[in-house]
Amino acid sequence: MKSSVRIVEMGPRDGLQNEPKEVPTAVKIELIERLADAGLPAVEATAFVSPKCVPQMADHTEVLERVRRKPGVDYPVLTPNLKGFESARAAGATEVAVFAAASEAFSKKNINCSIAESLDRFRPVTEAAKVAKIKVRGYVSCVLGCPYEGEIAPKRVADVAKALYEMGCYEVSLGDTIGTGTPEKTKAMIQACAAQMPMEKLAGHYHDTYGQALANIYASLELGVGTFDASIAGLGGCPYAAGASGNVATEDVVYMLHGVGVRTGIDLERLVDIGQWISGVLKRDYGSKAGKAIAAKKKK
Ligand code: HMG
Ligand code: MG
Repeated sequence: MKSSVRIVEMGPRDGLQNEPKEVPTAVKIELIERLADAGLPAVEATAFVSPKCVPQMADHTEVLERVRRKPGVDYPVLTPNLKGFESARAAGATEVAVFAAASEAFSKKNINCSIAESLDRFRPVTEAAKVAKIKVRGYVSCVLGCPYEGEIAPKRVADVAKALYEMGCYEVSLGDTIGTGTPEKTKAMIQACAAQMPMEKLAGHYHDTYGQALANIYASLELGVGTFDASIAGLGGCPYAAGASGNVATEDVVYMLHGVGVRTGIDLERLVDIGQWISGVLKRDYGSKAGKAIAAKKKK
């Protein structure tokens, strides 16, 4: 197991993309800045996708242009095609992310093309990014199940992950979009990917719909995965995966990692303050179990 782990914060993007009510740009910016100040080494800031498809991310340019950037922190943004990449670059992006799926049906619903077509769209993005010295992260969705196709074979995930890695993604984040995965299945999927590309280039991105995300993180850690995506207060849900809940709460992941002696560089108390604050702003119940317990203890 690694002695330190990198957490990529998803709250401002994956966490907010499905919020039904418009979240003010100033709130998004404050959220990103506070997360970076709490020690997150990477905060996914927004998505340069179609505002017709994901209205909540329509203020992408303003968010990226206005956010105060802390030196040493990465602020990736989603870019599904060259159009998104060009807009992100114009707004000052230094890291972008392309997102594919291991399921044909999900790919079609999410980005309106087949898996092969999506990889063809991403290649010019990775090429342009290389020239502009912009880092590219890759995602694979539906790695442990698809809302339309059901079970997904590990080999299908590994093939897409390898394609993303080979086209220049510095890391490939494996998304359990609907959170149906369990630890042994997670291990089999990671092992299939690690047979095609280096383990240290893989990240886990587990949604917590079935309460399995922490167990799946632990299983991945045991295999040597050293990067995990998480969302403050467990915010989120995917617009193309009905009923899916957010990524595992960042507070819960940090509590577990610190508890097993793995360093993250993140200040858990500050995270809890942020989690309570953003849940209040969004009028949501606070979705972190560790966060709730820490806040209750503090009150006494
Ligand atoms: P399309 O309709 O196939 O694209 O959409 P198109 O090239 O035919 O263009 C159609 C219209 O979209 C045109 O505008 C384009 O200008 C515009 P019109 O002429 O009709 O006015 N357009 C764009 N506008 C803004 N930004 C762009 C862009 N590209 C084209 N980049 C597209 C393809 C991918 C754009 C669309 O399907 C889309 O935006 N989908 C949204 C996907 C999304 O954001 N999904 C959620 C994030 S992924 C996720 O959550 C999973 C993840 O967390 C991992 C996991 O959990 O599994 C990463
Ligand atoms: Mg996600």
